[in-house]
Amino acid sequence: MVNAVRIHEFGDIDVLKWEDIEVGDPGPGELRLRHTVIGFNFLDIAVRKGIYPVLPELPSVLGTEAAGLVEAVGEGVNGIKEGDRVAYASTFPGAYAEARLIDASQVVVLPGAISDEIAAASMLKGMTAEYLIHRCYPAKAGETALVHAAAGGVGIFLSQWLAAKGVNVIGTVGSDAKKEMILANGAAQAVNYKTENFQEVARAVTDGAGVDVVYDSVGKDHYERSIDSLRPRGYMVNFGNSSGPLPPIDSVELNVKGSLFFTKASMRFYQLSRAELEASAATLFDAIAAGDVKTVIGQRYKLEDVAMAHTDVAEGRTTGSTVFTI
Ligand SMILES: NC(=O)c1ccc[n+]([C@@H]2O[C@H](COP(=O)([O-])OP(=O)(O)OC[C@H]3O[C@@H](n4cnc5c(N)ncnc54)[C@H](OP(=O)(O)O)[C@@H]3O)[C@@H](O)[C@H]2O)c1
Repeated sequence: MVNAVRIHEFGDIDVLKWEDIEVGDPGPGELRLRHTVIGFNFLDIAVRKGIYPVLPELPSVLGTEAAGLVEAVGEGVNGIKEGDRVAYASTFPGAYAEARLIDASQVVVLPGAISDEIAAASMLKGMTAEYLIHRCYPAKAGETALVHAAAGGVGIFLSQWLAAKGVNVIGTVGSDAKKEMILANGAAQAVNYKTENFQEVARAVTDGAGVDVVYDSVGKDHYERSIDSLRPRGYMVNFGNSSGPLPPIDSVELNVKGSLFFTKASMRFYQLSRAELEASAATLFDAIAAGDVKTVIGQRYKLEDVAMAHTDVAEGRTTGSTVFTI
């Protein structure tokens, strides 16, 4: 038996239960992992509330990102062996546990330069930044990007990495303290959207032209001003709904506001094969090793304090990545 955080129903933080669970032996194609560090993601809140589009069957262990050691290997697994240090960002929950079974195809072996803690703090958020800035809208040196929630987990990776590519980053945040933080992490301009108008800043910084791209994980609250910040034929890349879902997209509005492009991006559609997963992870690990991105771990919680972490992140009190220790 191992300790785990499970939900038996969707709802508020009181549905998070600290329980003993049986893990068992890996079946064909599976691994049993002993976690060392577990990543927290805003997505975990959506899954807990039952508003994530791909919901697990109940009861379910939450969590989609972790690092650890391979304890046992099922039949037919190639390239991963007992004792390997590995990490994953899986679409299938199960990370909030001391140990778990997982399909080996979701797991990558960690290079020596990437610690377990860095991996658990970076896999989902860093690979999200990887596909957004290289394969969704590949921003180029000299372009200007508006990045929302720039002090958040994904947001810091985006800002640092875009800046390393020579992109001019305008970051938005919900407090003045977070402004300082993003200016130290890639943003050339920082906007507290609670007291300042980011659309005006975006126009001012680009001499009225508008930004080339918006990378937006906030959703509802920032949508209208985001598309009003874009240049003609600019790209609205929405990849999250932290403030609530977007309104239905109005194609006429996209037309009259400048033949704008809109996408609702999801990591699982940028990791359609093992080759795409391995390439994304390798690009991230190389960027960390080169110093283009530096994983910022803003908070650490014990796994049994999971409810506190969910509350702090939901209320915007956190910065950078959040990890659970065991
Ligand atoms: N599509 C994908 O592939 C993909 C992959 C990973 C994550 N995501 C999404 O990306 C977003 C960021 O994930 P993360 O784990 O890195 O979280 P995070 O950015 O660390 O936390 C969310 C941040 O959003 C901001 N925010 C603005 N309005 C908010 C509101 N009404 N309620 C709560 N937060 C609000 C807060 O920052 P301020 O205080 O600065 O406003 C808060 O810190 C999430 O929506 C997540 O679901 C999508």
